[in-house]
Amino acid sequence: MRVRTLLNPFSCRQRFEKMPWHAIFPNAQEKLTVEIGFGTGSFLVHYAQRYPSHGIVGFEIRQRLVKQAEASIAAAKLTNVHPVEGNGQYGLEDMFDDNTLDRVFIFHPDPWPKPRQQKRRVITPAFVQLIQRKLKPGGELFIATDVEELWQYMHNIVTTASQLTPTTNDLFWEQDYRTRWQEMTQEQNRSRFFGTFAKVL
Ligand SMILES: C[S@@+](CC[C@H](N)C(=O)[O-])C[C@H]1O[C@@H](n2cnc3c(N)ncnc32)[C@H](O)[C@@H]1O
Repeated sequence: MRVRTLLNPFSCRQRFEKMPWHAIFPNAQEKLTVEIGFGTGSFLVHYAQRYPSHGIVGFEIRQRLVKQAEASIAAAKLTNVHPVEGNGQYGLEDMFDDNTLDRVFIFHPDPWPKPRQQKRRVITPAFVQLIQRKLKPGGELFIATDVEELWQYMHNIVTTASQLTPTTNDLFWEQDYRTRWQEMTQEQNRSRFFGTFAKVL
């Protein structure tokens, strides 16, 4: 059996430059979106194919997975997706102006169950405040997990530490939510917990 070793995101200390996204996505300027922790990159490819007028930037700390996603993106000849190796928390802070993102996706983040590991979780009070700052008014955060305790923890942080408001986007969850981890939980008949939060300011 293959054992998956988790990489502490804070061992990835690299910081980033601000990027000229309009020049990087000249044919996809309708919406700017970010996925944090893209894993194999299956959502990036699916989303970029389905929405050719959207630019999507993905962050992943595991180099092997970044290379795998790069290969899938090249095979699909996609020009509206940009995978980045590194910690998405630093990437979001460094690479984007405030009020510029339409959507941020975080699907099945690593649970880090021990109390001393919780600071490694992607969703923290400081990070949801950063996401709120980077989203446009009307922009949305999408979160999913298969760990109920993590869902309650994340939902609680988003609704208490930020002004992001729970909203519904059934079409997205029915048609666009396609990730490797989502497929695995479906195959194993396990529960999934997901929700959308909007910046209404
Ligand atoms: C359980 S996997 C889920 C992958 C994918 N989102 C899916 O649903 O199939 C979580 C992924 O997030 C990555 N990750 C965890 N923290 C991260 C961070 N701060 N920045 C970027 N990637 C991160 C991990 O390396 C791992 O590949």
